[in-house]
Amino acid sequence: MTAPAVRPRRLRASIALRDMVAETDVRPAQLVWPAFVVAGRDREEPISSLPRVSRRSVDRLLPELERALRVGVRSVMLFGVIDEAAKDAVGTAASDPAGPVPAALRAARAAFGDDLVLMTDVCLCGYTDHGHCGVLAPPRPGGTLARVVDGPTLPRLAAMAALHAEAGADVVAPSDMMDGRVGAVRAGLDAAGHDGVAILSYAVKYASAFYGPFRDAAGSSPHGGIDSHPAPLDRRSYQMDPRNAREAALEVALDVAEGADLLLVKPALPYLDVVARVRARSDRPLVAYQVSGEYAMIEAAAAVGALDRAAAVRESLIAIRRAGADLVISYHAVEAAAEGWTR
Ligand code: PBG
Repeated sequence: MTAPAVRPRRLRASIALRDMVAETDVRPAQLVWPAFVVAGRDREEPISSLPRVSRRSVDRLLPELERALRVGVRSVMLFGVIDEAAKDAVGTAASDPAGPVPAALRAARAAFGDDLVLMTDVCLCGYTDHGHCGVLAPPRPGGTLARVVDGPTLPRLAAMAALHAEAGADVVAPSDMMDGRVGAVRAGLDAAGHDGVAILSYAVKYASAFYGPFRDAAGSSPHGGIDSHPAPLDRRSYQMDPRNAREAALEVALDVAEGADLLLVKPALPYLDVVARVRARSDRPLVAYQVSGEYAMIEAAAAVGALDRAAAVRESLIAIRRAGADLVISYHAVEAAAEGWTR
Protein backbone atom coordinates (compact mmCIF):
# COMPACT_ATOMS: atom_id res chain seq x y z
CA MET A 1 0.00 0.00 0.00
CA THR A 2 1.39 3.38 -0.93
CA ALA A 3 0.53 6.34 1.27
CA PRO A 4 -2.27 8.55 -0.04
CA ALA A 5 -1.01 11.67 -1.85
CA VAL A 6 -3.27 13.94 0.15
CA ARG A 7 -2.73 13.53 3.86
CA PRO A 8 -4.47 16.12 6.08
CA ARG A 9 -2.46 14.88 9.07
CA ARG A 10 0.75 16.44 7.68
CA LEU A 11 -0.50 19.83 8.83
CA ARG A 12 -1.53 18.56 12.26
CA ALA A 13 1.89 17.24 13.27
CA SER A 14 2.88 20.01 15.73
CA ILE A 15 1.41 22.90 17.67
CA ALA A 16 3.21 25.34 15.38
CA LEU A 17 1.79 23.69 12.25
CA ARG A 18 -1.71 23.58 13.71
CA ASP A 19 -1.57 27.23 14.76
CA MET A 20 -0.24 28.16 11.34
CA VAL A 21 -3.28 26.78 9.51
CA ALA A 22 -5.95 27.50 12.15
CA GLU A 23 -8.94 29.12 10.47
CA THR A 24 -10.62 30.52 13.57
CA ASP A 25 -9.38 32.54 16.52
CA VAL A 26 -10.96 33.98 19.64
CA ARG A 27 -9.48 37.21 20.91
CA PRO A 28 -10.41 38.62 24.33
CA ALA A 29 -11.58 41.83 22.59
CA GLN A 30 -14.21 39.76 20.78
CA LEU A 31 -15.79 38.71 24.07
CA VAL A 32 -18.50 40.64 25.92
CA TRP A 33 -19.00 40.04 29.62
CA PRO A 34 -22.63 40.15 30.88
CA ALA A 35 -23.05 41.61 34.37
CA PHE A 36 -26.01 41.98 36.74
CA VAL A 37 -26.21 45.25 38.69
CA VAL A 38 -28.22 46.00 41.84
CA ALA A 39 -28.74 49.14 43.92
CA GLY A 40 -26.98 49.82 47.21
CA ARG A 41 -23.44 49.26 48.41
CA ASP A 42 -21.26 46.31 49.18
CA ARG A 43 -23.69 43.80 47.72
CA GLU A 44 -22.49 40.64 46.02
CA GLU A 45 -25.16 37.96 45.69
CA PRO A 46 -24.27 34.61 44.12
CA ILE A 47 -26.84 33.04 41.81
CA SER A 48 -27.42 29.42 42.64
CA SER A 49 -28.05 28.25 39.09
CA LEU A 50 -25.02 30.15 37.76
CA PRO A 51 -21.85 29.18 39.64
CA ARG A 52 -19.28 32.04 39.81
CA VAL A 53 -21.85 34.61 38.58
CA SER A 54 -23.12 37.26 41.03
CA ARG A 55 -25.37 40.27 41.18
CA ARG A 56 -23.28 43.20 42.36
CA SER A 57 -23.78 46.75 43.52
CA VAL A 58 -21.84 49.34 41.53
CA ASP A 59 -18.96 49.57 44.04
CA ARG A 60 -18.44 45.79 43.80
CA LEU A 61 -18.86 45.76 40.03
CA LEU A 62 -16.10 48.27 39.27
CA PRO A 63 -13.20 46.03 40.38
CA GLU A 64 -14.63 43.23 38.21
CA LEU A 65 -14.71 45.57 35.21
CA GLU A 66 -11.14 46.57 35.94
CA ARG A 67 -10.19 42.90 35.97
CA ALA A 68 -11.97 42.38 32.64
CA LEU A 69 -9.97 45.21 31.09
CA ARG A 70 -6.74 43.84 32.55
CA VAL A 71 -7.22 40.52 30.74
CA GLY A 72 -8.28 42.17 27.48
CA VAL A 73 -12.09 41.94 27.67
CA ARG A 74 -13.13 45.45 26.68
CA SER A 75 -16.91 45.36 26.64
CA VAL A 76 -19.63 44.68 29.16
CA MET A 77 -23.39 44.14 28.83
CA LEU A 78 -25.23 45.50 31.88
CA PHE A 79 -28.51 44.10 33.21
CA GLY A 80 -30.35 45.89 36.01
CA VAL A 81 -32.04 43.96 38.80
CA ILE A 82 -34.51 45.75 41.07
CA ASP A 83 -36.69 44.80 44.04
CA GLU A 84 -40.11 43.26 43.35
CA ALA A 85 -41.72 46.13 45.27
CA ALA A 86 -40.37 48.67 42.76
CA LYS A 87 -42.00 46.94 39.76
CA ASP A 88 -45.28 47.94 38.14
CA ALA A 89 -47.36 47.01 35.11
CA VAL A 90 -45.49 49.25 32.65
CA GLY A 91 -41.97 48.99 34.09
CA THR A 92 -41.75 52.62 35.21
CA ALA A 93 -38.51 51.93 37.10
CA ALA A 94 -36.76 51.10 33.80
CA SER A 95 -36.49 54.82 33.12
CA ASP A 96 -35.45 55.91 36.62
CA PRO A 97 -32.19 57.90 36.35
CA ALA A 98 -31.30 56.69 39.85
CA GLY A 99 -31.65 53.01 38.83
CA PRO A 100 -28.75 50.55 39.02
CA VAL A 101 -27.91 50.58 35.30
CA PRO A 102 -27.61 54.38 34.89
CA ALA A 103 -25.59 54.47 38.13
CA ALA A 104 -23.25 51.74 36.86
CA LEU A 105 -22.85 53.53 33.51
CA ARG A 106 -21.90 56.83 35.14
CA ALA A 107 -19.43 55.14 37.49
CA ALA A 108 -17.85 52.97 34.79
CA ARG A 109 -17.49 55.90 32.40
CA ALA A 110 -15.87 57.96 35.14
CA ALA A 111 -13.52 55.13 36.09
CA PHE A 112 -12.52 53.80 32.67
CA GLY A 113 -13.13 56.62 30.17
CA ASP A 114 -13.36 55.26 26.64
CA ASP A 115 -11.35 52.11 27.38
CA LEU A 116 -14.40 49.98 28.14
CA VAL A 117 -17.34 49.62 25.76
CA LEU A 118 -20.51 50.01 27.80
CA MET A 119 -23.52 48.11 26.50
CA THR A 120 -26.92 47.83 28.16
CA ASP A 121 -29.84 45.45 27.81
CA VAL A 122 -33.01 47.39 26.97
CA CYS A 123 -36.09 45.41 27.96
CA LEU A 124 -38.93 45.76 30.43
CA CYS A 125 -39.02 42.19 31.81
CA GLY A 126 -36.83 43.00 34.81
CA TYR A 127 -39.01 45.99 35.68
CA THR A 128 -42.62 44.82 35.12
CA ASP A 129 -44.58 43.14 37.91
CA HIS A 130 -45.86 40.50 35.44
CA GLY A 131 -42.34 39.78 34.14
CA HIS A 132 -43.15 40.23 30.46
CA CYS A 133 -40.93 42.19 28.08
CA GLY A 134 -43.68 44.61 27.12
CA VAL A 135 -46.86 46.29 28.25
CA LEU A 136 -50.00 44.14 28.56
CA ALA A 137 -53.43 44.73 27.07
CA PRO A 138 -56.65 42.89 27.92
CA PRO A 139 -57.69 39.86 25.89
CA ARG A 140 -59.31 40.40 22.51
CA PRO A 141 -63.09 40.64 22.68
CA GLY A 142 -64.27 37.16 23.51
CA GLY A 143 -60.70 35.97 24.16
CA THR A 144 -59.18 34.82 27.45
CA LEU A 145 -55.48 35.59 27.15
CA ALA A 146 -53.83 38.91 27.94
CA ARG A 147 -51.58 40.23 25.18
CA VAL A 148 -48.19 41.90 25.11
CA VAL A 149 -48.64 44.87 22.79
CA ASP A 150 -46.10 46.82 20.74
CA GLY A 151 -47.76 50.25 20.72
CA PRO A 152 -47.49 51.25 24.38
CA THR A 153 -44.22 49.31 24.78
CA LEU A 154 -42.14 51.15 22.17
CA PRO A 155 -42.07 54.56 23.93
CA ARG A 156 -41.07 52.82 27.19
CA LEU A 157 -38.14 51.15 25.42
CA ALA A 158 -37.14 54.37 23.67
CA ALA A 159 -37.13 56.22 27.01
CA MET A 160 -35.05 53.49 28.65
CA ALA A 161 -32.52 53.57 25.80
CA ALA A 162 -32.27 57.40 25.92
CA LEU A 163 -31.69 57.24 29.67
CA HIS A 164 -28.87 54.72 29.20
CA ALA A 165 -27.34 56.87 26.46
CA GLU A 166 -27.54 59.93 28.73
CA ALA A 167 -25.76 57.99 31.48
CA GLY A 168 -22.92 56.99 29.16
CA ALA A 169 -23.82 53.84 27.18
CA ASP A 170 -21.92 53.33 23.93
CA VAL A 171 -24.35 50.67 22.73
CA VAL A 172 -27.95 49.95 23.70
CA ALA A 173 -29.33 46.48 23.08
CA PRO A 174 -33.10 46.07 22.80
CA SER A 175 -33.90 42.43 23.69
CA ASP A 176 -37.68 42.56 23.94
CA MET A 177 -38.63 41.37 20.41
CA MET A 178 -41.47 43.86 19.92
CA ASP A 179 -42.02 44.73 16.26
CA GLY A 180 -40.72 48.19 15.35
CA ARG A 181 -38.53 48.60 18.41
CA VAL A 182 -35.25 49.31 16.65
CA GLY A 183 -36.84 52.16 14.72
CA ALA A 184 -38.47 53.52 17.86
CA VAL A 185 -35.24 53.31 19.86
CA ARG A 186 -33.24 54.96 17.03
CA ALA A 187 -35.75 57.81 16.78
CA GLY A 188 -35.79 58.23 20.57
CA LEU A 189 -31.99 58.33 20.77
CA ASP A 190 -31.71 60.81 17.93
CA ALA A 191 -34.40 63.08 19.35
CA ALA A 192 -32.52 63.14 22.66
CA GLY A 193 -29.29 64.13 20.92
CA HIS A 194 -27.68 60.68 21.08
CA ASP A 195 -27.29 60.01 17.38
CA GLY A 196 -23.78 58.65 18.06
CA VAL A 197 -25.00 55.83 20.29
CA ALA A 198 -25.17 52.47 18.52
CA ILE A 199 -27.95 49.88 18.59
CA LEU A 200 -27.16 46.21 19.03
CA SER A 201 -30.41 44.54 18.09
CA TYR A 202 -31.32 41.19 19.55
CA ALA A 203 -32.65 40.63 16.04
CA VAL A 204 -32.97 36.87 16.19
CA LYS A 205 -34.01 35.85 19.67
CA TYR A 206 -35.72 32.54 20.19
CA ALA A 207 -38.25 31.58 22.87
CA SER A 208 -35.77 29.32 24.65
CA ALA A 209 -35.65 27.09 27.69
CA PHE A 210 -31.97 28.05 27.97
CA TYR A 211 -32.81 31.43 29.56
CA GLY A 212 -33.90 29.74 32.81
CA PRO A 213 -30.92 30.64 35.03
CA PHE A 214 -30.91 34.25 33.76
CA ARG A 215 -34.47 34.68 34.91
CA ASP A 216 -33.40 33.53 38.40
CA ALA A 217 -30.60 36.06 38.30
CA ALA A 218 -32.67 38.95 36.98
CA GLY A 219 -35.91 38.08 38.76
CA SER A 220 -37.59 38.36 35.36
CA SER A 221 -39.64 35.17 35.00
CA PRO A 222 -42.97 35.87 33.32
CA HIS A 223 -46.03 35.03 35.35
CA GLY A 224 -49.49 35.37 33.93
CA GLY A 225 -50.89 33.53 30.95
CA ILE A 226 -50.03 35.21 27.70
CA ASP A 227 -50.53 32.11 25.68
CA SER A 228 -51.23 28.52 26.48
CA HIS A 229 -47.66 27.61 27.42
CA PRO A 230 -46.28 27.45 30.94
CA ALA A 231 -42.97 29.04 31.95
CA PRO A 232 -40.23 29.01 30.77
CA LEU A 233 -41.69 29.07 27.28
CA ASP A 234 -44.43 31.63 27.63
CA ARG A 235 -42.71 34.43 25.72
CA ARG A 236 -43.79 32.65 22.56
CA SER A 237 -46.05 35.43 21.37
CA TYR A 238 -43.04 37.70 20.87
CA GLN A 239 -39.82 35.63 20.84
CA MET A 240 -39.14 33.41 17.83
CA ASP A 241 -40.27 29.83 17.40
CA PRO A 242 -37.29 27.44 17.53
CA ARG A 243 -38.73 25.63 14.54
CA ASN A 244 -38.06 28.63 12.30
CA ALA A 245 -34.76 29.51 10.63
CA ARG A 246 -35.91 31.28 7.44
CA GLU A 247 -37.78 33.76 9.60
CA ALA A 248 -34.41 34.99 10.93
CA ALA A 249 -33.83 36.64 7.55
CA LEU A 250 -37.00 38.69 7.96
CA GLU A 251 -36.09 39.82 11.48
CA VAL A 252 -32.60 40.81 10.30
CA ALA A 253 -33.87 42.71 7.26
CA LEU A 254 -36.35 44.68 9.37
CA ASP A 255 -33.82 45.58 12.05
CA VAL A 256 -31.18 46.64 9.53
CA ALA A 257 -33.75 48.82 7.76
CA GLU A 258 -34.72 50.37 11.10
CA GLY A 259 -31.11 51.26 11.90
CA ALA A 260 -29.50 48.36 13.78
CA ASP A 261 -25.72 48.77 13.90
CA LEU A 262 -24.98 45.29 15.18
CA LEU A 263 -27.10 42.13 15.04
CA LEU A 264 -27.43 39.37 17.57
CA VAL A 265 -28.50 35.73 17.52
CA LYS A 266 -29.51 34.10 20.79
CA PRO A 267 -29.06 31.44 22.17
CA ALA A 268 -25.76 30.49 20.50
CA LEU A 269 -24.79 26.80 20.52
CA PRO A 270 -28.24 25.30 19.78
CA TYR A 271 -28.65 27.88 16.97
CA LEU A 272 -25.29 27.82 15.16
CA ASP A 273 -27.12 27.11 11.90
CA VAL A 274 -28.92 30.42 12.37
CA VAL A 275 -25.65 32.22 13.18
CA ALA A 276 -24.19 30.90 9.91
CA ARG A 277 -27.32 31.84 7.99
CA VAL A 278 -27.36 35.41 9.31
CA ARG A 279 -23.60 35.72 8.66
CA ALA A 280 -24.18 34.78 5.02
CA ARG A 281 -26.94 37.35 4.59
CA SER A 282 -25.65 40.43 6.38
CA ASP A 283 -22.37 42.30 6.51
CA ARG A 284 -23.25 43.99 9.80
CA PRO A 285 -21.17 42.91 12.80
CA LEU A 286 -22.77 39.78 14.23
CA VAL A 287 -22.95 38.92 17.91
CA ALA A 288 -23.96 35.57 19.40
CA TYR A 289 -25.11 35.25 22.99
CA GLN A 290 -24.00 32.11 24.80
CA VAL A 291 -26.85 32.29 27.28
CA SER A 292 -27.21 31.36 30.91
CA GLY A 293 -28.49 27.83 30.25
CA GLU A 294 -25.54 27.10 27.98
CA TYR A 295 -23.18 28.28 30.73
CA ALA A 296 -25.05 26.25 33.35
CA MET A 297 -24.86 23.08 31.24
CA ILE A 298 -21.08 23.29 30.95
CA GLU A 299 -20.73 24.10 34.65
CA ALA A 300 -23.01 21.24 35.72
CA ALA A 301 -21.31 18.69 33.48
CA ALA A 302 -17.87 19.82 34.67
CA ALA A 303 -18.97 19.70 38.31
CA VAL A 304 -19.77 15.99 38.03
CA GLY A 305 -16.55 15.29 36.16
CA ALA A 306 -18.21 14.62 32.82
CA LEU A 307 -16.44 17.44 30.96
CA ASP A 308 -13.15 19.27 31.21
CA ARG A 309 -14.37 22.80 31.94
CA ALA A 310 -11.56 24.74 30.29
CA ALA A 311 -11.59 22.62 27.14
CA ALA A 312 -15.37 22.74 26.85
CA VAL A 313 -15.50 26.53 27.24
CA ARG A 314 -12.71 27.03 24.73
CA GLU A 315 -14.31 24.72 22.18
CA SER A 316 -17.73 26.39 22.58
CA LEU A 317 -16.29 29.86 22.02
CA ILE A 318 -14.38 28.65 18.95
CA ALA A 319 -17.51 26.94 17.58
CA ILE A 320 -19.55 30.13 17.90
CA ARG A 321 -16.85 32.16 16.17
CA ARG A 322 -16.42 29.48 13.47
CA ALA A 323 -20.16 29.62 12.71
CA GLY A 324 -19.72 33.29 11.86
CA ALA A 325 -20.14 35.41 14.98
CA ASP A 326 -17.77 38.37 15.26
CA LEU A 327 -18.43 38.81 18.97
CA VAL A 328 -19.54 36.41 21.68
CA ILE A 329 -21.39 37.43 24.83
CA SER A 330 -20.43 34.86 27.45
CA TYR A 331 -20.54 34.54 31.23
CA HIS A 332 -17.18 32.79 30.78
CA ALA A 333 -15.65 35.82 29.00
CA VAL A 334 -13.39 37.16 31.74
CA GLU A 335 -12.30 33.79 33.04
CA ALA A 336 -11.65 32.50 29.51
CA ALA A 337 -9.45 35.52 28.75
CA ALA A 338 -7.68 35.37 32.12
CA GLU A 339 -6.94 31.67 31.87
CA GLY A 340 -5.87 31.80 28.23
CA TRP A 341 -8.76 29.63 27.03
CA THR A 342 -9.04 31.92 24.03
CA ARG A 343 -5.69 30.71 22.67
C1 PBG B 1 -34.36 40.10 28.54
C2 PBG B 1 -33.26 39.14 28.36
C3 PBG B 1 -33.23 37.75 28.61
C4 PBG B 1 -31.93 37.34 28.37
C5 PBG B 1 -31.21 38.46 27.93
N1 PBG B 1 -32.06 39.55 27.91
C6 PBG B 1 -34.25 36.85 29.18
C7 PBG B 1 -35.47 36.48 28.46
O1 PBG B 1 -35.73 36.89 27.31
O2 PBG B 1 -36.25 35.78 29.09
C8 PBG B 1 -31.40 35.96 28.56
C9 PBG B 1 -29.92 35.86 28.76
C10 PBG B 1 -29.45 34.57 29.32
O3 PBG B 1 -30.18 33.58 29.45
O4 PBG B 1 -28.26 34.53 29.65
N2 PBG B 1 -35.47 39.96 27.75
